[in-house]
Amino acid sequence: MAKSKGKRVNLAIVGCGGMAGAHLRGYEELLQRGEDRFRIVAAVDEAKERAEGFADRLASQAGWEVAAFGSVDELLDSGLKVDGADICSPHGFHHVLGCQLLQAGVNVLIEKPIGITVKASKKIAATARRRGLVAATAEQCRRAIGQRTIHWAFNDGLLGDPTMWWAIQARWQDPEPVGGWSWRVDRRLGGCGMVMDSGAHWVDTMRYWFGEIDSVFARVEQVRDRRFRKGRRVVKGAQEDFWTAIFNFKSGLAGTWSWTISAPGKGFTQLTLAGTRGSIIDSDIFHPAAFQANGECQLTDGTTYSMGKLQEMYLDTLSAARREELFPYGITAGVPLELWDFIDALSRGRPVEIDAEEGMRSKAVSEAIYESGKSGQVVKVADVVSGKVDAWQRDLNRYWNL
Ligand SMILES: NC(=O)c1ccc[n+]([C@@H]2O[C@H](COP(=O)([O-])OP(=O)(O)OC[C@H]3O[C@@H](n4cnc5c(N)ncnc54)[C@H](O)[C@@H]3O)[C@@H](O)[C@H]2O)c1
Repeated sequence: MAKSKGKRVNLAIVGCGGMAGAHLRGYEELLQRGEDRFRIVAAVDEAKERAEGFADRLASQAGWEVAAFGSVDELLDSGLKVDGADICSPHGFHHVLGCQLLQAGVNVLIEKPIGITVKASKKIAATARRRGLVAATAEQCRRAIGQRTIHWAFNDGLLGDPTMWWAIQARWQDPEPVGGWSWRVDRRLGGCGMVMDSGAHWVDTMRYWFGEIDSVFARVEQVRDRRFRKGRRVVKGAQEDFWTAIFNFKSGLAGTWSWTISAPGKGFTQLTLAGTRGSIIDSDIFHPAAFQANGECQLTDGTTYSMGKLQEMYLDTLSAARREELFPYGITAGVPLELWDFIDALSRGRPVEIDAEEGMRSKAVSEAIYESGKSGQVVKVADVVSGKVDAWQRDLNRYWNL
């Protein structure tokens, strides 16, 4: 049982929509397990009734008095003492709210993808550096026991050196019905589609398991128009519905990632990760092994392990101290672990596992896919990180004054 020492930290939740609800459940789990070094003192949402709903729930679940605000301006003007803000807003506001809070002396944990573009992500990292504060990327997948296990299987010899992987999903989502508008279908707020939304998880995972990516070649398209009702108007969505991408890793590993919702007929999903001594398969190409132990491992001699068994084998290799570091209080799910990392970092004055700089490096891989799709050329990820290649992101950088 982890009973870590450190000061108590006061937190604000900014953006009280769907994912913030998952964070709330994560905070509740931490409390139930005995983590008492944090209080949530404020909830902020431009739809103030959502902030009030969070405040009411925390009052009844934890007995805390939580102030509700309609904007970060109101929170900062209130004079309430806040050590950290957990930002779960639409992508376009991540850098706006993040930098505003950092400038006011508040550490931030920002949902993935850290910024709407590479420049936006760099702005968050630079502001945190200047202010000497923590800017953390809320990326939960690599922290979950399933992903830690696969990292071990590839990096500790069981599966040998990784040599190739395929992550493919093709399915059909009828484009005809007009959907309800949300910020995700507006490029200025969402940044664009699944390459950088759920895809933010996979780009982080592949860097975590296999190391840095040298270059990317991709096609990214809108095969079908999709329309959404926004008030009285019907608008066209900006998101891609097809991509296929080839990744050249610095290690020599090659990977292929393809996705579409515009392939009529029977769909399929396959993830295969191959090493010189064996492979792992799963059926999730965005957050494999992060939520369930679905996959299977098979070695060249035919030995097979369920993912549950592989997790046991991995846990047996860990010292008690390392187990406590990775899975405090015995927690093995990603979201409570990412929240715990932020709380523990603020409480004890240590860095977080995934800071804004690390988030930016994953973000650059997503953007390299779009940049390659736009130019039709192979794109070096380093050129996207440096800003040398930015044609696809330029309109967004201009819109957000970056
Ligand atoms: N880690 C994950 O597994 C996961 C899953 C889903 C979403 N997300 C991420 O969480 C973030 C939020 O996504 P969501 O699905 O919860 O969206 P959502 O639309 O459900 O919630 C966003 C909330 O932010 C509020 N908001 C908008 N502008 C604001 C502003 N300027 N100030 C304060 N509040 C504002 C909205 O009113 C809304 O309540 C995104 O970054 C998304 O990518 C992560």
